[in-house]
Parts: sequence; structure tokens; C-alpha cells
Amino acid sequence: MKVLVTGGAGFIGSFIVEEVMNIGWEPIVVDDLSTGNLSFVPKSVPFYNIDIRSDTLEQVFRMHNPEVVIHQAAQVSVEFSTQQPLTDCEINTLGTLNILKLCAKYKVSKLVYASSAAVYGSAKEMPLKEEHRILPISFYGQSKYSAEQYIHLFHQLYGLPYTILRYSNVYGMRQNMLGEAGVVSIFINQAIRNTGVTVYGDGSQTRDFIFVKDVAKANIQAVAFGGSGAFNISTNQPISLNKLLAILQESIHQPLDITYTDSRAGDIKDSSLSFDKAREFLQWEPRTSFEIGLKETVAYYQNQVPK
Ligand SMILES: NC(=O)c1ccc[n+]([C@@H]2O[C@H](COP(=O)([O-])OP(=O)(O)OC[C@H]3O[C@@H](n4cnc5c(N)ncnc54)[C@H](O)[C@@H]3O)[C@@H](O)[C@H]2O)c1
Repeated sequence: MKVLVTGGAGFIGSFIVEEVMNIGWEPIVVDDLSTGNLSFVPKSVPFYNIDIRSDTLEQVFRMHNPEVVIHQAAQVSVEFSTQQPLTDCEINTLGTLNILKLCAKYKVSKLVYASSAAVYGSAKEMPLKEEHRILPISFYGQSKYSAEQYIHLFHQLYGLPYTILRYSNVYGMRQNMLGEAGVVSIFINQAIRNTGVTVYGDGSQTRDFIFVKDVAKANIQAVAFGGSGAFNISTNQPISLNKLLAILQESIHQPLDITYTDSRAGDIKDSSLSFDKAREFLQWEPRTSFEIGLKETVAYYQNQVPK
């Protein structure tokens, strides 16, 4: 089965490409390499350096006729979206619309879309469930949610089957430190380079950290799922930044030089998301404990440091 992975040279997308190959499907990657890295894409995989907003994208659909599209390509920085909301919207919303148009025209049998917990905004109750009020508090959250709404309309108007996956904070190997939830990779890099670790706030704030390989598996499960809908992809295990640092300290076997500074405006205090719906309908649940995932991630970054 031919599977087009947009953003397949990125952090999460490159692990999805690996999973797609593992089960014997044929990945095709489109990525403009704005934050992605060509070395993350296996040489045997057809690769197209194309912007998802461009008309050229149609050539890939015409040439390969993919049955499934797994859409990961996006502008992923909340901060960038605050500085440049128009560009954020062009990539995340209009870029997705361009893909949707082609999915309908070329009769794609399933679209899987990478959305974000950012669509919910501030949590009214936790753990967050999919029916929680949607009220983004960033342009990034809004552009991801606008794309969700277009997807839903393409389903209603053209019968395009879809699965929307709302990821919590993804961590793991190959993460770009500028990414949406790069705190784990930022801390690891600061720790192994011995530059001192800076924490905004008192470190008691919690996040729902999900390992990248578990997220890649969720995308595969979503392809097989027959219906259409939105699912949280998360662990429902809030981990405080102080706990993260304690586990990190153990993994690298040396004490960290930690500086606490003022918390940043707009940072949320706590976050956890229920994955009950994904467990029931996608037969998916997170398999990797934070300790194990962090260990694998630390080993990866240690190998990147020149000896
Ligand atoms: N990392 C997280 O914690 C997290 C959380 C929630 C949702 N997400 C979503 O997951 C997806 C993957 O994010 P990631 O963390 O792997 O980030 P990433 O930056 O590593 O991956 C995004 C990829 O898209 C490519 N890209 C960006 N703009 C493009 C364009 N206009 N045309 C073609 N390619 C383009 C980049 O080069 C990159 O390879 C995104 O849709 C993001 O919104 C990520």
C-alpha cells in the first residue's frame, strides 16, 4: 500500500516512515526541509522537496496515487505563530486545505492528520477528553484546529475518511530543539553539554510526555481504523519538570546545575490528556514508560556529541 507522509523528514514523521516500512507498506515523503532533515529519510524512500502549499504537490499525487496520506508537515512553533500568524495559517491551514483538495481529487481512502492538544487551550477539567471545549489560546492552536474543521467538511462534502490525532507533548530522538514541545531535548542537550539547565518557574508544572515511537504506532493504527474522528494520543501521566530533571540526572549519572527563573507569560501550569477513546477505537495505548523513553533519547543525544 502506498502511503504519502508529509513532513516525513521531521521528528515524528521520520518515525512514522520507519513504521510504515516495518509493516511492509510503501512510504513516499514530501517535505520542504524547513525544519526536517533529509538524513532522517531512508535512501530507498521516494523523497520530494516540495512545499505543501504549492501546486507542484499535485505531481506527487498524479505519479504515485497514494491510498493513504499521513499529514505531519506543519509550522510547529507556538512562538513563531505569535510573531507571524499569517504564515502560520498559510502553512497549517491553507497547506492542509491544498492536501485535502488533492486527497478528494485522487480518491485517497484515508487521511491521518497530526493535530495537537493546543486546540483545547486552557484545561477546564483534567484529564482532557476529546469532547472538552475547544478554545485555542495561540495562533498555532487555532491554525491546527481550523485545519481539523476543513478535514471534517471534506468528509461531509466528499466522503473523505479521516482520523485526527491530537498529540500531547511528544519527545524522543531527532527532535528539533525549536519544536513545539522541545523541553525534553533542550534539557538533555543542556545536561550532556554541561551548560547548566534553565527552568522557567519552580519546576512543579506538569506535562503529558509521549514517546515518539508510540506516536508513530498510533498513526499506523489510525490507518486501519474504519471510522472518522478525533483522538488524543497521550499517556495521561502528568510528569513535573522537576521529576523529568531527577530522572535525567539518574540517566546521565551526574548532578545537574539547575537555575530556576521567572515563569513565562502564557505557559500553562498542568496538562494531561485521556487516551481512553484511542484505546477503545484504535486499539492503541502508550507502551513506553517515561523512564525507558528518556533513557533511549539520552543515549541518542549522547551519540550526537562529538567525542
Ligand atoms: N512535537 C510535538 O510535541 C507535537 C505536539 C502536537 C502536535 N504536533 C504536530 O506533529 C507534526 C509533526 O511535528 P514535529 O514535532 O515532528 O515537527 P518537525 O518540525 O520535526 O516536523 C515538521 C516537518 O514538516 C516539514 N514542513 C514544515 N513546513 C512545511 C511545508 N510548508 N511544506 C512541506 N513540509 C513542511 C518540516 O521540514 C519538518 O520536516 C506537526 O503537524 C505538529 O503540529 C507535534
